[in-house]
Amino acid sequence: MLNVLDHPLAAHIITHLRDKTTKPATFRTLAYQISMLLAIEATANVETSAKEIETPLERMTGRELAHETLVVVPILRAGLGMVQPFSDLFPDVSVGYIGLERDHATAVARSYYCKLPPLSNRHVFLVDPMLATGGSAVQALTIVKEQGAKNPTLVCIVAAPEGVAEVEKHHPGTPIHTAALDRQLNDRKYILPGLGDFGDRLYGT
Ligand code: PRP
Ligand code: URA
Repeated sequence: MLNVLDHPLAAHIITHLRDKTTKPATFRTLAYQISMLLAIEATANVETSAKEIETPLERMTGRELAHETLVVVPILRAGLGMVQPFSDLFPDVSVGYIGLERDHATAVARSYYCKLPPLSNRHVFLVDPMLATGGSAVQALTIVKEQGAKNPTLVCIVAAPEGVAEVEKHHPGTPIHTAALDRQLNDRKYILPGLGDFGDRLYGT
């Protein structure tokens, strides 16, 4: 269920995100732009309902979004950089938070925060820019499913094949949207070629 964004603008943005000379202010703008493209792609199947309207010329039946069914859940901290496009496009979206942090020595993610709105019968989008070993995504998917989410969608910016395989192993059939599928992980579990530590580059830490 992997969907890799294929658009010249996405390729342009991801190249500048990867560039190590890109400064945090520009990095944040680029993160917003790529997340906007991903948000549009990832929501291609959300529900709409019929709406009768009158154009200046005649009556017609249009479609409108059922906004209230959407929930976006960033994995803190880097996932926060992907939330704004969802709330700009879908003003009624609910936002939940899952705090996970990888141990620098083991690359195993530790949970430190969780605050979620009701998830049953809602379309849940987990957003986290980097899918590396997949440990964080697998934990987050387990948490949102325990809270009632059915078939949550994972949205990331750069994915490693190892992370995609890990998600598929533990949560088969999960829709995954990414702007780039990279080559591999290095021995410190960073994505190659990747873009480095997303959270550090986003927040200048
Ligand atoms: C990064 C990233 C993901 C995770 C991916 O977060 O934002 O959450 O690593 O790695 P994984 O697939 O191997 O689990 P990090 O733990 O560095 O925390 P941060 O967002 O606070 O920087
Ligand atoms: N987290 C990041 O921010 N970057 C990686 O390459 C892997 C995990």
